[in-house]
Amino acid sequence: MAAVGGIEKPRALRLQGRVAVVTGGASGIGEATVKLFAAEGAKVIIADQNDADRERVAREAGGSDVARFIHCDVTKEDNIAAAVDLSVSVFAGLDIMFNNTGIIGIRCPMKLPLKRTITSTR
Ligand SMILES: NC(=O)c1ccc[n+]([C@@H]2O[C@H](COP(=O)([O-])OP(=O)(O)OC[C@H]3O[C@@H](n4cnc5c(N)ncnc54)[C@H](O)[C@@H]3O)[C@@H](O)[C@H]2O)c1
Repeated sequence: MAAVGGIEKPRALRLQGRVAVVTGGASGIGEATVKLFAAEGAKVIIADQNDADRERVAREAGGSDVARFIHCDVTKEDNIAAAVDLSVSVFAGLDIMFNNTGIIGIRCPMKLPLKRTITSTR
């Protein structure tokens, strides 16, 4: 909060009205990002292959009105497409794609010939 004339004025949420997909959002940097984005007003799709923490992270981020989990292996194009589709169908759009999770080891570019046009319903 910023003090204006001695009165605490709440600052605007930086991601109010935005929708994000966070890959690897069920733990670590991704989980922290999910919670930060939610705290800043965003709706978030948690796209992760770890199903064990799906309910916990979504709940801690604010519940199903704020965050939804989808099982997603980022190496599978149809899984990414499903995460995008969920974002559009549940939260009416997609503004931020945080491609957080990666692959450790031999580095080579992922070849995903994904070409999609996302139509926001907002
Ligand atoms: N933590 C660091 O210091 C650091 C530094 C540099 C880069 N990174 C990179 O940042 C990313 C996140 O790091 P972290 O420390 O939060 O890792 P983490 O292991 O805590 O979390 C990674 C998350 O990604 C998920 N995940 C793994 N493979 C996946 C896949 N194929 N599809 C979907 N989800 C998958 C896991 O289930 C997990 O929830 C990683 O790519 C890591 O290589 C981390």
